[in-house]
Amino acid sequence: MEAERVLVIGVGRIGAVTAVGLAHLLHDVTGVDTNAGRVEELQAGRLREAEPGLRAALQSALRLRALRFAPGAAPGGFDFAFLCVDTPPLPGGEPDLRQLFAAAEYAARTLRPGGTVVTRSTVPPGTGDRLEAALRAAGRGDLGVVHVPEFLREGRAWEDFREPDRIVVGARDRVRCERVARLFAGISAPVYRCDRVTAELAKYAANAFLATTVSFANEMADLAARLGADPEVLFETLRADRRIGREAYLGPGLGFGGHCLPKDTAALEYVAAARGLTLHQLQATIRVNRERVGQAAAWLDEALGGLEGRTIAVLGLAFKPGTDDLRESRALALAEALALHGAEVRGYDPLVREAPGICCPGTLPAALEGADALVVAHRADWVRALDPCEAAALMARQLVYDAPGGIDHRAWAAAGFVTNRCLREPVAAADGSER
Ligand SMILES: NC(=O)c1ccc[n+]([C@@H]2O[C@H](COP(=O)([O-])OP(=O)(O)OC[C@H]3O[C@@H](n4cnc5c(N)ncnc54)[C@H](O)[C@@H]3O)[C@@H](O)[C@H]2O)c1
Repeated sequence: MEAERVLVIGVGRIGAVTAVGLAHLLHDVTGVDTNAGRVEELQAGRLREAEPGLRAALQSALRLRALRFAPGAAPGGFDFAFLCVDTPPLPGGEPDLRQLFAAAEYAARTLRPGGTVVTRSTVPPGTGDRLEAALRAAGRGDLGVVHVPEFLREGRAWEDFREPDRIVVGARDRVRCERVARLFAGISAPVYRCDRVTAELAKYAANAFLATTVSFANEMADLAARLGADPEVLFETLRADRRIGREAYLGPGLGFGGHCLPKDTAALEYVAAARGLTLHQLQATIRVNRERVGQAAAWLDEALGGLEGRTIAVLGLAFKPGTDDLRESRALALAEALALHGAEVRGYDPLVREAPGICCPGTLPAALEGADALVVAHRADWVRALDPCEAAALMARQLVYDAPGGIDHRAWAAAGFVTNRCLREPVAAADGSER
């Protein structure tokens, strides 16, 4: 396989993985970013985010000189420029593409004649056409734009780069499409070659579907609670169905957060509305999600007889377990709502040292000390390992709101806790023992 000269523009969470991954696929990679501190850190082999395996891979690529990070790149030397900048939402849900167009302008200055701009950022369908028009207007009609959406999961970014479920390459011409697909030779995954709009829509459709399963699960969990049904068993039975799948996002919680699902569902709704189409299913998904935090706050308010002056400990602060990313975290949204009603909120998360607007005392016991209630926001081993008797001894009151089903409610009830789950009688086995 031929080594290509690749420029990665924007080496944040996605760009860093892309740069390291392409270097490990034996390409000659340069990463640039407008954030000088980030460039310096990566060039020194340091990685802030909690991504298993990525730091070691970064360091080995730097050692082999397959990868370097710099504030800028020499003009004219690159075959491919990957755009990995952010596409954040504007207030109406429309993605803000200013960083993307600035990065494309930079690509136009650094690509060799006939080179290819690869959009890796999540972009609304039709963006590739707009970028090509902008490049033409800038006198670089020789360049082409190919979209290769990124589907990786935060916290498993390196694993997902090396073993993705699929690679989607969307281009206007076959030759360019093949050239970009060849960059990923060495990864064993199905490659879907398609037109650019299909590739652009593929990412939004995947995230809309994932978000929909989250909202569906939350509604089913609410119904299970009303009926006294066991949500654990309920979701296990759903995931056991091969048409649904073991890794489906089926489980209760505070709703979907993070950098992608909220902004991408809003963007898709915007994209459809701009073409006169209402996506009713997607709108319901977003609405159900929006209500989760308020429901949790209302439960705590009622259970505590008001939130004013109460101390509440929140366990799990990142937008999901296994990552340090706080962007659009539902746990932080709940903390903010509780604080707005006069509660003092403390937080603990093993991967997060500090979080905006919330006191993080640094240890689990310190977060629980004197608390009137506990909110479990993450389903994680460290939460499951928490001893309810030790928690009861530390806390002022024994009250727990467990959003994801992260604790053994029977054990916590036995330790004197009131929880948000209604507990059924255990099933008696044929031999008379309890199950
Ligand atoms: N985070 C995820 O899990 C994930 C997954 C799939 C897709 N995406 C998509 O990838 C894109 C990037 O997301 P992210 O989480 O990596 O964002 P990020 O904010 O972590 O990284 C973006 C980086 O781009 C840099 N940048 C901005 N403008 C620049 C410019 N003109 N030139 C050079 N650098 C510039 C910023 O300084 C920053 O370091 C978004 O469109 C996002 O939707 C993210």
